[in-house]
Amino acid sequence: MEKLWGGRFTGKSEAWIDEFGASIFYDQKLAQEDIEGSKAHVTMLGKTGIISEVEAAEILQGLTILEEKAQQGKLSFTSQNEDIHLNIEKLLHDEIGAVAGKLHTGRSRNDQVATDMHLYLKKQVQLILEGIQALKETLVDKAEQHVETIMPGYTHLQHAQPISFAHHLLAYHGMFARDYERFSESIKRIDISPLGSAALAGTTFPIDRELTAELLGFSSIYENSLDGVSDRDFIIEFLSNASLLMMHLSRFCEELILWTSHEFQFVELTDTYSTGSSIMPQKKNPDMAELIRGKTGRVYGNLFSLLTVLKGLPLAYNKDFQEDKEGMFDTAETVQKCVAVFTGMIETMKVNKQTMAASTEKDFSNATELADYLAKKGVPFREAHEIVGKLVLTCTQNGHYLQDIPLADYQAVHPAIEADIYEVLASKTAVEKRDSYGGTGFEQIKAAIARIKKG
Ligand code: ARG
Repeated sequence: MEKLWGGRFTGKSEAWIDEFGASIFYDQKLAQEDIEGSKAHVTMLGKTGIISEVEAAEILQGLTILEEKAQQGKLSFTSQNEDIHLNIEKLLHDEIGAVAGKLHTGRSRNDQVATDMHLYLKKQVQLILEGIQALKETLVDKAEQHVETIMPGYTHLQHAQPISFAHHLLAYHGMFARDYERFSESIKRIDISPLGSAALAGTTFPIDRELTAELLGFSSIYENSLDGVSDRDFIIEFLSNASLLMMHLSRFCEELILWTSHEFQFVELTDTYSTGSSIMPQKKNPDMAELIRGKTGRVYGNLFSLLTVLKGLPLAYNKDFQEDKEGMFDTAETVQKCVAVFTGMIETMKVNKQTMAASTEKDFSNATELADYLAKKGVPFREAHEIVGKLVLTCTQNGHYLQDIPLADYQAVHPAIEADIYEVLASKTAVEKRDSYGGTGFEQIKAAIARIKKG
């Protein structure tokens, strides 16, 4: 088959080499964007008089037919036509004949492919933002239901101080709110039109870049044509934002995996988000949480792969750029699915409040309360710390806890300790009283929820 760029070639091509060089297997995902870009370009060619209005109208009509066929999945592509751009151009030729050849006036596949990716990513980021928004709302709803649900707060995965489960949920809300912000802020760097940069240096045709940008809904245009065709920062930024988001999901998934284990039993995931074992009849595995944790690896991989592809590339276009697409598609799809599955998992999980709270009853996570109690009575904090440390040691030797020590024994240790100590040592009190701004105290959490809802 004749190549659209075959003029200067005399040798024969080989199918397997053509296949190696082709991107149509995956860049056909850009069919819609490619046609949109071409429609804007040809409209501009007509309006500026670079081609006649009649020719522009014929091409537009052809593109509209292809667009409808693409939406119905009726276009068939071939690797002999290398990529989506050449495939569409060939199909257009089949549809309307020789006039199709005027579409590529003053344009190159280099600005064309960049335009397609800007258009694609702008839509995908919007969808991801909607997903994150739904997740944030789910977390706030859950938090509202669990303001007074007590759980152990951890450092080093050791019981540290009791906290409200809502506080834990809102910590993740904070992370996802930053993810939301990052993706939103990135839009301004995606929302730029490279169209009209042509191959690398602009064009001698009197094109109107502002017009094509406006027709495509871009807010601005690349100032420099070399930059326009060789910028892939916007994809790297997207992959980087996606990696951070996945890291947050993965951390929470790790906790869900721990919490659903026999040792914790803090939460139970619904059957929809769990799977069984082919051999062990009792098993209910948190597969979806594990899979999200696992998929984080491929998203990081996509980021590193593109950073590496780009690092030694001279200006302007290089075929290496063709490697920018699969990771971008894969990341956009992976992230959207992970956010949706994760949101459903959180929404439907059953929280075992009693088990959570009970695990703070038989531990030393109230040790700070006792030290603070002494400090409030004038004992220097370091000294208080030492006293409580010794008490913890005795307790561990005797197999009981701080709340089990009789008042007389306490007073023997320090006369400042009075009967109100038992109330102070209760985990609910410990949580409730942490009323510093941003802390886990119930009133703080209610205030935090109110602030989030206010926006
Ligand atoms: N398939 C190519 C890509 O994805 C399109 C641009 C081709 N440009 C070129 N000069 N070979 O990057």
